[in-house]
Amino acid sequence: ATTAIDLKEEILQLKKERNAVILAHNYQVGEIQDIADYVGDSLGLAYKAQETDCDVIAFCGVHFMAETAKILNPNKTVVLPDRDAGCSLEESCPAEDLAAFLETNKEKNYYVIAYINCSGGVKALCDVIVTSGNAIDIVNKAPADRPILFVPDANLGAWVMEQTGRKMDLWQGSCYVHVEFTQNSINAIKEEYPEALVVAHPECTTAVRMLADEVCSTEKMIAYCQNAPVKDIIVVTESGMLHRLQKEAPDKNLIPGPTDKCACNDCHFMKMNTMEKLRDCLRDLTPTVEMPEEIRQRAEAPIIRMLEQSK
Ligand code: 13P
Ligand code: SF4
Repeated sequence: ATTAIDLKEEILQLKKERNAVILAHNYQVGEIQDIADYVGDSLGLAYKAQETDCDVIAFCGVHFMAETAKILNPNKTVVLPDRDAGCSLEESCPAEDLAAFLETNKEKNYYVIAYINCSGGVKALCDVIVTSGNAIDIVNKAPADRPILFVPDANLGAWVMEQTGRKMDLWQGSCYVHVEFTQNSINAIKEEYPEALVVAHPECTTAVRMLADEVCSTEKMIAYCQNAPVKDIIVVTESGMLHRLQKEAPDKNLIPGPTDKCACNDCHFMKMNTMEKLRDCLRDLTPTVEMPEEIRQRAEAPIIRMLEQSK
């Protein structure tokens, strides 16, 4: 039987043979984070994908993240451990529905801003992409004379409207993980840890965001926890984040935000990736991310615009 150590060695060996880089999101299981060349949020991962000179990118995250890496690197092989690692936000906004909406509302001449959690087909219909790490800056730079349509996350969109004062029409999508945190569940854990600070992801509902001391992207949570003046911090996001935070802020007592049903909250899409599947995708170079070149080119422009605007 393959031991965990053998599996790790096998992955490192295959990585060398393939001249591959392993990129992992902050929500991946601990072993994958530990073996990756880079672990970060959607924005950091997009920059890393843009910079790499490896032949193969093994992307441990969800499909839209691997697809973003492919859009930026059409000549590289991008593999992902599990093709079915999707995202409820991506599902909430099919490209055909967005195209139909824009056609019906043509006279509005919307400036379309898409949160990166969407398909390549949706990106191809947009003017600029944002992540949770740069949404405020990018919305502040949007043309003042055009109405904005923000897709697909209505919660993140509402937070950006509060922070920028810019009105936007919001697509009604949501993250099935982050909407599970409730005012009740967060108030209950705050009562248990009365000294604790609360940091929450902007995909949470307004009611939950209102209970947070800081709202930010997963990567920004690291500096926030490291610099926090108290020991107890309640982290209201997907539970994989705790692994990264425990490594980076070891002197803090990090408490996962609970839901009404559970002490912490997993994204089942993110957790579809395993060390075995990572080994297999490096060995077999499948599943790969592919898309029609015409869509790739149209999707690339708003991603590049984002990467330039958020430097
Ligand atoms: P970040 O870019 O903040 O890591 O968020 C990605 C995500 O999928 C949150 O659910
Ligand atoms: Fe998508 Fe939510 Fe999972 Fe992030 S946590 S990948 S937004 S379903």
